[in-house]
Amino acid sequence: MSILADRYATALVTGASTGLGRAFSDMLLAEGVRVWGTARDPARLPARPGFTPLALELADAATIDRAFQAATAAAGRLDLVINNAGYGLFGAFAEQAFADWQRQVDAMLGQTMHLAQLALRGMRERNRGALVNVSSLAVDFPLPFMSGYNITKAGLSALSESLMIEVSGTGIIVIDFRPGDYRTGFNQAMHRTSGTRAAAGSPSGPRLQRVWSSLEAHLRSAPPPERAAGDLRRALIRGRSGTVRSGTFFQAQLAPWLARFAPPGLRRAVMARYFGSY
Ligand SMILES: NC(=O)c1ccc[n+]([C@@H]2O[C@H](COP(=O)([O-])OP(=O)(O)OC[C@H]3O[C@@H](n4cnc5c(N)ncnc54)[C@H](OP(=O)(O)O)[C@@H]3O)[C@@H](O)[C@H]2O)c1
Repeated sequence: MSILADRYATALVTGASTGLGRAFSDMLLAEGVRVWGTARDPARLPARPGFTPLALELADAATIDRAFQAATAAAGRLDLVINNAGYGLFGAFAEQAFADWQRQVDAMLGQTMHLAQLALRGMRERNRGALVNVSSLAVDFPLPFMSGYNITKAGLSALSESLMIEVSGTGIIVIDFRPGDYRTGFNQAMHRTSGTRAAAGSPSGPRLQRVWSSLEAHLRSAPPPERAAGDLRRALIRGRSGTVRSGTFFQAQLAPWLARFAPPGLRRAVMARYFGSY
């Protein structure tokens, strides 16, 4: 049995149909961990030995309860829960429908917290387990025209930091996993507001177009999600609570250093250059 499967025999991974969640699931399955993975439509989840598909829609709390209970009942216990499902919402804040913005914050922050709470309650009974919250480099460098997304990730990282304090001295660990750019279906799945396409009619149209092109170029040349799965594997084997940054040397090493030591004005200027958002 692998070190990982010895420590975590069972796992629940949200958003396991594509991208990072799919790569996390494949990595765990290869290690001999039994995985319960979710998508809004479970038919999108490829059948593999050791893998059980489940339906979960972040915007619907009842589906989170159902998926968690179904996985727990079948697994007996969940040793590892990876809060990974998410989507982007791209557009100028003033031009967005507030309901879309609010829906994203509720789904990706409120409901992700909901699953984190269910996970920790189970783990506390056994005094063991790992909770992984998939946040983002956007916590250090907020993405232009993605205010709702930036808020959800900043809030999620704040939750992880809070929980790390609460679980210290116990057999439970909390990992705040912060990826930089990875080549996934994230941009294709992005919810885009009309301002993005209506370059001529929108005051921020030309800038939105520049930033969108830049977001697409960055993701096209980004590393594959298997690299993030390797970083998560190493963090789980280390077995300590903490923030784990994952990505290229520039994004995982230099950018956090810059975020820590550069004045906010310089950080914003670097981002404006990087994304063409000036
Ligand atoms: N790719 C990056 O560069 C990057 C960087 C930093 C952080 N992240 C974070 O990594 C996580 C995974 O993203 P990804 O890059 O792998 O993107 P992705 O390929 O689009 O995968 C997103 C996953 O989340 C699920 N999902 C999307 N909306 C959902 C909803 N409303 N309810 C339930 N499930 C939903 C999708 O499943 P279905 O569509 O099949 O339901 C899919 O499995 C996200 O939290 C994202 O914010 C990504």
